[in-house]
Amino acid sequence: MVTIYLNGKPFEVEEGQTLLAACLSLGFNIPYFCWHPALHSVGSCRLCAVKQFRDEKDTRGRIVMSCVTEVCDGLRVSLDDPEVREFRASVLEWLMINHPHDCPVCDEGGECHLQDMTVMTGHVYRRYRYKKNTYYNQDLGPFIHHEMNRCIQCYRCVRYYRDYAGGRDLNVYGVHNKLYFGRFESGVLQSPFSGNLVEVCPTGVFTDKTHRRHFTRKWDLQTAPSVCVHCGLGCNTIPGERYGTLRRIRNRYNGQVNGYFLCDRGRFGYEFVNSDLRIRQPLIRNDAGELEACSLDRALEHLAHLLNDSTDTIGIGSPRASLESNFALSELVGPERFSAGIPRNELELVNLAVDILSKGPAPSASLLDAEKSDAVLVLGEDLINTAPRLALAVRQSILQEAERVIAKRDVPRWNDRGFRLVAEHAKGPVFLATPWATALDDIARDVFRGAPFDIARVAAAVARDLDDTAPEVHDLTAREREWAAKVADALKKAERPLVVSGISCGDPSVLQAAANLAKALAAIGQPCRIALVVPECNTIGVGLLGGLSLEHAMGDEQPQGRDLAIVMENDLYRRLSRTNVDGFFARSKHLVVVDHLMHETAQQAELVLPAATFAEGAGTMVNSEGRGQRFFRVLSPTEHIRDSWHHFRDPIVLAGRSGVDSRDNLDTLLQAVADRYVLLEGVTRIAPNAQFRAVHQRIPRQSHRYSGRTAMHANMSVHEPKPPEDKDSPLSFSMEGYSGMAPSSLIPRFWAPGWNSIQSLNKFQSEIAGSLVGGDPGIRLLDKPDGGSVSYFSEAVPESQEREDQWLLVPLHHLFGSEELSVLSPGIRQLTPDPYVGMSSEDADSLGIKEGTIVSLDAQGLQVQRPVRIRPDIPRSILAWPVGLPGEEPVELPQWVTVTLRQSDSGEA
Ligand code: FES
Repeated sequence: MVTIYLNGKPFEVEEGQTLLAACLSLGFNIPYFCWHPALHSVGSCRLCAVKQFRDEKDTRGRIVMSCVTEVCDGLRVSLDDPEVREFRASVLEWLMINHPHDCPVCDEGGECHLQDMTVMTGHVYRRYRYKKNTYYNQDLGPFIHHEMNRCIQCYRCVRYYRDYAGGRDLNVYGVHNKLYFGRFESGVLQSPFSGNLVEVCPTGVFTDKTHRRHFTRKWDLQTAPSVCVHCGLGCNTIPGERYGTLRRIRNRYNGQVNGYFLCDRGRFGYEFVNSDLRIRQPLIRNDAGELEACSLDRALEHLAHLLNDSTDTIGIGSPRASLESNFALSELVGPERFSAGIPRNELELVNLAVDILSKGPAPSASLLDAEKSDAVLVLGEDLINTAPRLALAVRQSILQEAERVIAKRDVPRWNDRGFRLVAEHAKGPVFLATPWATALDDIARDVFRGAPFDIARVAAAVARDLDDTAPEVHDLTAREREWAAKVADALKKAERPLVVSGISCGDPSVLQAAANLAKALAAIGQPCRIALVVPECNTIGVGLLGGLSLEHAMGDEQPQGRDLAIVMENDLYRRLSRTNVDGFFARSKHLVVVDHLMHETAQQAELVLPAATFAEGAGTMVNSEGRGQRFFRVLSPTEHIRDSWHHFRDPIVLAGRSGVDSRDNLDTLLQAVADRYVLLEGVTRIAPNAQFRAVHQRIPRQSHRYSGRTAMHANMSVHEPKPPEDKDSPLSFSMEGYSGMAPSSLIPRFWAPGWNSIQSLNKFQSEIAGSLVGGDPGIRLLDKPDGGSVSYFSEAVPESQEREDQWLLVPLHHLFGSEELSVLSPGIRQLTPDPYVGMSSEDADSLGIKEGTIVSLDAQGLQVQRPVRIRPDIPRSILAWPVGLPGEEPVELPQWVTVTLRQSDSGEA
């Protein structure tokens, strides 16, 4: 720690940081543009000026930029010297010479960093009277709206897009005094993290195009803390609502999880909440065999009646439903009749992942841990498509080597330009073993391509190289041996090695090999971490609850079907083949579906109950790190739409079951979960309970500037309605309440006096880019006090396989398209590919197949026609099978299949 003097007063601050970061951490306001906590300092905008004095006798001082001045003992600075104030105002004036001053029609208006800085610097009068530079705006695709005239040339966008996120198609082009930030030509931004430009840009150049369609000013949005539902990472989000529709998603900073950034699926996948497919009222099948609307009372009575009459009820839960809803369904039908809603092969993988995380040799890695790792091995995961935010974290991990190098030289970390020059030549080791090329290949030190069993073999070879008690691997090729030795060497030298794997390629041997590798590292004393990718937002949560596989629940050993099947938040047609699901429905007497989307499964039901989405609901999810996180409703509940768990409570009471009638809110239900499951014992501590009050007040979901409250519903009633009550949280659906610093898990929005943009986050962090005040949200549930297992997870190493006339179908995931909910957003649907099958160039050549040729695949359980996409990066004898695309039937993967490829009658696509 060092002592610095700000405006004559002493302050203790951490060494090694910039004066700007130190001042912001201490709560002082200094204006800035080009500096960003995740992008560090380039000192280009000159707005963060302060006056530095040599010593206490120095009265003249000199103006310095606080973002490129490192704190040191005795540093004396004035933050608001008149000369400094004048300097800043003049800088702002010339930065805004060409700015159109179009705040009233700008999407950024009201949450614009440029507006805030203009007010902060005191630049109030526009003297420039001449023609301004104007620019052509590009169409950047469905997510980002471009308005170049507002640019103040801070360079944050290109620094984020290129240096941080690794994008290549956005750049700055300059002629004379004109700078242009955009693509070489109009077109969809290629980076899956392009949405962060909306928050990185300090003004309205890059704004949310999806939000434009139903635009609402920030202060008019009702907001609440939430968690992304579009993959297993559990990034923290802030959804915004107005007039009963969800308007946008913003990043909610969590220092351990998503930090400052989200992926585009998470940011723009929200529109399913407003979809026409939403189930908004209970439906019951009438005598004519059609689903018709009915009252909630009638629907719940019908469910209670079915429950009472049934002697054989099965409850099918879901990895996209909350812990509470899955638990309530399990209570309703009995734990032995509860299914996790996952097919058998996938459930085995999920259970294995839960075992590795809860009993394995290495603690799970948060995204921050991944970012700070100094050697990374990825086994079998195409991270950009299966866990995109983790891919962004792994991309940052290569900078650890540069940090090590600059620590030895006289280059401070905050000096981004100097740091990037070093980082050009000092990249940390990332090794990728995947079936085909991925978007992280450009940072990889070496890649290995192979089928999942080959990946497991080579990972086992690495483990064996590290620890000679690890299972032995036979018949490795020279290339595999060399690759394994190189990876082992890098992992051995690392201080914070990380093994990343997951269930996306569908092969348990890959997961086992990852766990064995972590064990081998532990055996040689390396403090390794492990990150396992799972597909859905609560896959780990439902795995912890336990439950039958789908096939088991659907009675594969009981061909007569079930009396009553209750399917919760799960479209079974996305999980199992049509034949299986149709057969199950035909054999079952009664089918009840509780969900928010009218999918094919819901269309078959006798009774449909409308469930809440994440936006209308509240609950808990466990992410792939094993972090329990709470989400809160942002839309006020309507008469019919309720959390699934809430729907189950009334029938239980009506059916006369005891012990649950007092569970009328989330807290009592969570307490029951904690009492029942040892590993979930911490769930009650994730967030303050519903009784919590900050200075006797609830925390308001509406900002203190929320407008139109008395007029919004005047077409129905001129009386201002009483705000809805929320029994499940300490948040209120109103403007009134506690406006100070809420506990981190309850922060509904980031705002501070004078800071209307997302930059206000500075005021909520204990230190810049550190944790939120009071600690980051969520609780790690699977940490092992005893250090975990001491034995290898599996002694078996798979054999290498090659089969005459057979192909290995391997699942391929698409960021846009493979996830059920986000694909209902029009922008994401636009970027979703049509079904195809991927094939290696060599195989295509040998079969005489050209790009786009339609081929027929006759494989076990699968007879389809697909156009071929030829990819040189796919190994021979492997077919890449895109999973989860709309309309696609699920196939058990990977599987060896006998495939007849023949040109169809329809010829070329
Ligand atoms: Fe310091 Fe831009 S923020 S020069």
